[in-house]
Amino acid sequence: MNNIGKIKNYNISKNIINLIFEKGTGFLQIINENIIRVYCDPKNEGSHSKAIEKIFDDFNDFTSKQKDGKIIIKTKNITAIVESDFYVDFFDQNGKSIVKDYRKPLAQTEQLRQEQAEILIGEGHSVQDSNTQELYIAKELEPYECFYGLGDKTGFLNKRHYDYIMWNTDDPSPQVDSYRALYKSIPFYISLKKDTVYGIFFDNTFKTYFDMGKNSDEYCMFGANNGAIDYYFIYGKNMKDIIGGYTLLTGTTPLPQLWTLGYQQSRWGYIDEKDIGYIADSMREHKIPCDVIHMDIDYMDGYRVFTWDKERHPNPKEELEKLAKQGIKIVTIIDPGIKKDKGYSIYDEGLKNRYFATDKDGVTYVNAVWPGDSVYPDFGNSDVRKWWGKNHKALLDMGVQGIWNDMNEPASFNGPLPDDVVFRDEDRYTTHKEIHNVYGHNMAKATYEYLKEETGKRPFVITRACYSGSQKYSTAWTGDNHSIWAHLQMAIPQLCNLGLSGMSFVGTDVGGFSYDPTPELMARWVQVGCFSPLFRNHSALGTKYQEPWKFKKEIIDIYRKYVNLRYSLLPYIYDLFYIGEKTGLPVIRAMVLEYENDINAQNCNDQFMLGENILVSPVVMQGATHKTVYLPEGNWYDFWTNEKITGNKHFTYRAPLDVCPIFVKEGTILPMYEQMEYVGEKALDTLILNIYGNTAKYTHYQDNYTDFNYRNGEYNIYDFKYEHNSFVYTVKHNGYENKYKKFIVCNKSKTHENCEIIII
Ligand code: GLC
Repeated sequence: MNNIGKIKNYNISKNIINLIFEKGTGFLQIINENIIRVYCDPKNEGSHSKAIEKIFDDFNDFTSKQKDGKIIIKTKNITAIVESDFYVDFFDQNGKSIVKDYRKPLAQTEQLRQEQAEILIGEGHSVQDSNTQELYIAKELEPYECFYGLGDKTGFLNKRHYDYIMWNTDDPSPQVDSYRALYKSIPFYISLKKDTVYGIFFDNTFKTYFDMGKNSDEYCMFGANNGAIDYYFIYGKNMKDIIGGYTLLTGTTPLPQLWTLGYQQSRWGYIDEKDIGYIADSMREHKIPCDVIHMDIDYMDGYRVFTWDKERHPNPKEELEKLAKQGIKIVTIIDPGIKKDKGYSIYDEGLKNRYFATDKDGVTYVNAVWPGDSVYPDFGNSDVRKWWGKNHKALLDMGVQGIWNDMNEPASFNGPLPDDVVFRDEDRYTTHKEIHNVYGHNMAKATYEYLKEETGKRPFVITRACYSGSQKYSTAWTGDNHSIWAHLQMAIPQLCNLGLSGMSFVGTDVGGFSYDPTPELMARWVQVGCFSPLFRNHSALGTKYQEPWKFKKEIIDIYRKYVNLRYSLLPYIYDLFYIGEKTGLPVIRAMVLEYENDINAQNCNDQFMLGENILVSPVVMQGATHKTVYLPEGNWYDFWTNEKITGNKHFTYRAPLDVCPIFVKEGTILPMYEQMEYVGEKALDTLILNIYGNTAKYTHYQDNYTDFNYRNGEYNIYDFKYEHNSFVYTVKHNGYENKYKKFIVCNKSKTHENCEIIII
């Protein structure tokens, strides 16, 4: 912080170190031995965190002292030294610098700022929010330093040398590398240096700006024009620790219901009951497993949320019951924009109770979305969230199983919402400037909390707009991509960076939303989609139909092969969600997360790990029949041929259209289910265990896949081991009655695979 002056004094209250400077105050909050919050609010806007719900006020294992005009704070693992002008430097336990504040003036010249301001205005941002940050923190850079995270940003994995804006943006044109903002604002990044790693979470919901070394090789910076300097420095031994620290603060993705991990078919828009029935029948007829069909905006009466179009869906309850008998669950879209329409009960009720955002004079603010003139629920207030939640009863009563929140940046067709639109932050009045980036977050929270309370099941919510911490309530998809190869390529780093930013349950519109996938693109996209935690094919109105059977037989067969693979892998993916709830670690992982010291992993954009045992190297180039695969150190098994391959090398792998290169790490016992059409079709009492290597082990989790009883101990943990040619297992935690009846143990590393059947 510039110009705050010398440190005059300091005092401690609990884990907060209050700092009194000559021209202002600030504090450091010691969250634990690895995390320190740095706070300074010159404008005193009195906000509270939307991302962090837990209170961290009891950590006391630290020391502090004042020396030579500096304050030195030590925990077991880190030392923070605060100097004049609130510069803070962080050191490890050996006194080695982790990162220091950059003290020189920033390189951004006035001219550069002007130019950037013009670009931003072109992108639809207001003049005053251009890149002339009043509040910023700059950190010293090292020549070799990579940056990861920052949510759903476009482009490649490593964000070094780029700059970004956090301002939730609905821009349907083809999203390319130069985009600075998309639908989500996750102001968190991980810095990976030669032998150090740290994270920064800048908890400011206003428009923020991140320069990851674009304008200088000497510093990276983050800043805002409004709100507070409120950031968390997160330290750890490795990137996994940093994600652990970040999700300790902002929460982890809770275990989902198992069926939500199945295949999902969607399109804007299936016309009516008959059309949806046809989709369900066709999935079954072509023997492509499917659990979910989505209903986009056309199911509603004139796009009025929480209503049904009576002509298109005359009896939704019966319709959904019929689909349920086929194993199909229905997810309905819900947008925030409420049609301005006297006599429409949701509008009338909201108006009466003053539940909508207003202009600065207190008049309900109107913009336009799908229903035409629309008003915006004020989700920052808990009464509004509760009211909003309860409205879902009209859908649940018909048998709806999940809610898809869209257009919640919030989108607006009549130009952006003005900065001064009034929203609430609970009882405090504030403006759109502060609420914009958490609008979707609060909407998803309202939906999650109601579904949880009403059904007792693990809610299935999908949201487009997010802020840090949205992972606690919702899954997310990457919005309106295009059916182009560039977007299939981008899907990998984008999903990986979302995972590195705490958002684990994510996916892209498989096949692409706008435009039309070629048969080849569709075949290659499903090979990535089947590993994406959220696996949904979705496309836009006016595009070619892209349901799998709309393609020729070769493509349908490929599609089926990978959807089947997805269902086989469900126990493994579910295990990853279980680990994720405990640790914050994502399901789909950037290579660098597993192999952070491997230089080949640090910039790897066309491969990813599914957990720590499976490496996927999809083909994402038109016409390619071979792929250059990189296997890190260790031994691996080709998933298709079981051939053993020694890692630490690049090599060319033959991958005709039906082959996605997949490798399993030696020492893995991979759990799989038998084929199924949908979750719930079979009892899931048989587990196939594929063994890769002469010694292998694996820990597997099992529960009722549905509710929260696991949090009261109703689950089983199995420890599987393979040693000296024999398989053994122990049930380490024994809380769920419905156990497996059969294990089918197959040794994939032997020339003649032989499977042993163990009846339990
Ligand atoms: C938005 C969504 C898209 C949806 C469409 C119509 O563009 O991103 O998924 O199909 O609105 O509701």
